[in-house]
Amino acid sequence: MRFDLPRSLGLGSVCASFFGVFSGSNQGQVTHHPVLPPSYPLAVRNPYLSTWMPSDRVHRLPYADSQFWAGQDLGWSVIARVDGQAYSLMGVPDLEASGIRPATVCRAEFTATHSLFELTAGPVSLTLDFFSPVSPSNYLRQSLPFSYLTVHVTRSQGHDIQIYSDIDGRWTGRERRSGPTFEEHGDLAFHSVSVEDARTYDEENDMALWGQVLLASRPGNVSSLSALAGGPKAVRGHFMKHGDLSTGDAIWSHGSVVALAHDLGTVAGEASVNFAVGYEREKAINYLGEAYTGYYRAEYPTTHEALSFFLNDYEDAYWESLEFDRELNTFATAAAGPKYADIVALSTRQAYGGIDLTIPNDSLDTDDVLAFIKELSSDGNINTIDIIMPAFPIYWVMDPDWIRLLLEPIMRYLDAGRWHLPYTIHDLGTHYPHAIGHDDQQAEAMPIEESGNLLILALAYMQATGDTDWTDQYTAIFQQYADYLIDNSINMANQLSSNDAAGPLPNETNLAIKATVGIKAFGELSGNTYYSQIGDEYADLFFTQGLGTDMEQTHFVLEYPDFPDSWKTPYNIYPDVLLGLDTFPREAHEMSNKFFSTSVRGEYGVPLDNRQDWAKSDWNMWLAGTFDEDTRDEFVDDLWAFMTNGKHNWPFSDRYVATSAHGNEPGAPILCRARPTVGGHFAILALKGPASIQSLSITHKPGRKTSKMPLVKSQGADSELVLQAEMA
Ligand SMILES: *[C@@H]1O[C@H](CO)[C@@H](O)[C@H](O)[C@H]1NC(C)=O
Ligand SMILES: *[C@@H]1O[C@H](CO)[C@@H](O)[C@H](O)[C@H]1NC(C)=O
Ligand SMILES: *[C@@H]1O[C@H](CO)[C@@H](O)[C@H](O)[C@H]1NC(C)=O
Repeated sequence: MRFDLPRSLGLGSVCASFFGVFSGSNQGQVTHHPVLPPSYPLAVRNPYLSTWMPSDRVHRLPYADSQFWAGQDLGWSVIARVDGQAYSLMGVPDLEASGIRPATVCRAEFTATHSLFELTAGPVSLTLDFFSPVSPSNYLRQSLPFSYLTVHVTRSQGHDIQIYSDIDGRWTGRERRSGPTFEEHGDLAFHSVSVEDARTYDEENDMALWGQVLLASRPGNVSSLSALAGGPKAVRGHFMKHGDLSTGDAIWSHGSVVALAHDLGTVAGEASVNFAVGYEREKAINYLGEAYTGYYRAEYPTTHEALSFFLNDYEDAYWESLEFDRELNTFATAAAGPKYADIVALSTRQAYGGIDLTIPNDSLDTDDVLAFIKELSSDGNINTIDIIMPAFPIYWVMDPDWIRLLLEPIMRYLDAGRWHLPYTIHDLGTHYPHAIGHDDQQAEAMPIEESGNLLILALAYMQATGDTDWTDQYTAIFQQYADYLIDNSINMANQLSSNDAAGPLPNETNLAIKATVGIKAFGELSGNTYYSQIGDEYADLFFTQGLGTDMEQTHFVLEYPDFPDSWKTPYNIYPDVLLGLDTFPREAHEMSNKFFSTSVRGEYGVPLDNRQDWAKSDWNMWLAGTFDEDTRDEFVDDLWAFMTNGKHNWPFSDRYVATSAHGNEPGAPILCRARPTVGGHFAILALKGPASIQSLSITHKPGRKTSKMPLVKSQGADSELVLQAEMA
């Protein structure tokens, strides 16, 4: 099988020829394309399969461990044996002692779905392609908890080649208590490693202890496959010597690896082999006491069936991903320039990598699909409404049904009457994967934040999909929250907003804006003009009459009525624009556009409010979506500058020091790692209309009985936009 590689890789030339050709940045001797990210996603599919390569390790990739999103090192090695000499391509820390040579890393690249590393190993050139599909309308493909590693030999003139990969026990989360199993089914071979006596749903340092790590492959047409598990010195040493693992003998103990090796024989030209790496949990989620499992298990209930399908699906998934990567790049470039395209490309896998797509384990009923999202790194809450909220622009762009899939678990809980407070719940459980609600009524309190969010999200779903049935069944619940907002959002009690790190405030203008837009959204949702009128009246009060602004109307204040010099990024006004509600007049956006383009911009952009030196990248992209082009581009430039500054190596952080005004190092991330909220970076693209990406497959999408049309028209990547971007 032969595949065309993304962009430049298809040229099949040696690494060295890339120097100076591309605009990507150099670090060490490595060219990063399109630019240096903080960390490269390697296998990022759900909260427990989230493996990264910090970009400051890429120049020494042959030695480098990869990382779990939370920062724990994981062993994942790739070795190529060329004419009897072994070269490490990745992940062999003790190279010198081993007799394995380091390959030379020349180039690294990320797209929305691939991370690629080009290396030379003696006389041959190779590319490691780490591919995590993002295919939200194909529930089967999206729900598989596996990721591809394809090792391409891109140039070989008649050399004898074997390719090896291993992973270690650290992937289980409790290395010392883990043990391996090896299985063969037909030509599929796979290792699994699991923790002995792990209790279902137990985590340690955010890693799943239950379930199993998987490394799988199949012999290709021209390659044979062998397997071994044991100490890394013994296993890699055996491969180094024999180019094959079948006669090996090793004992599993602390530090051990499970390994697979392909023998390609003589390669003249190109060849490739595929590995699958995964983390499977049969019982994936505890939803109100019932086990939910991966959607894919309806069709492929056993591990080996799922892995076989995943490997069979490679070609289709691969072609879809190339089209998608290209379309997203073109579309995002047309929307807000090439830097914006870099930002959304790096955000895509991370945004979907915080989610599991599930069905009930017992019935495997594919009409009962629920999505669960983890509040990674802040506190591990499950289906936090103010995580779904910042992220929702990516669902709007890619597949708006996901707004419903994520809200439905919450709506069922509310509908069952298990939440008694007059405002909506913050999340569906204190810690993933326990979506068990808060029957003790003790969820973190964010009354106006979450009530406004829920109404806006419900309308966004309805507008984007045309499905009114889903929202209609919950109208009474939504109405209760709309009434709560009417009663509580002018003289507003001291309370937290989504940015709880900033502390509570009474009368926070940005929350008042959220309430105002939320009330108007319910008016649209229900067709009840009473609510629409009140929304308009509140907007008049907060903006036109100036309760939420300074006297001169230069900006929205942080807190009203008596803090004219305070300010906060009024990002809650963005859905008013996206959903076409026109609650606030044009002048409100013009005011902010002017204010944020001049006075308050730090080295890396605009902080959250006048008290903080840190910015939220998701909210800043929301706000940028309400600006004219110049101010918008400043916000995009600043986020891009943070993303690419080479000063940090976490998965994309959505919170970072934007200004040195408080004496902190600007451009450094704070606390937030790998959060799915980076879906909010799609806010500018979302303005082009819902479901505007055309290249994603829609096979395997069950459920909704009638097929509906969006109520708003998509202005997707039409030919004019595409042309502009290609010429740019
Ligand atoms: C590999 O084998 C498959 C199945 O037998 C066949 O369809 C395919 O064409 C073969 N590919 C090559 C490159 O020989
Ligand atoms: C999950 O489903 C499998 C069969 O698909 C069954 O063997 C297992 O007992 C179920 N577990 C639970 C907790 O329902
Ligand atoms: C909040 O704003 C309302 C309306 O302007 C005002 O009556 C109230 O005193 C304010 N509360 C605080 C704590 O400032």
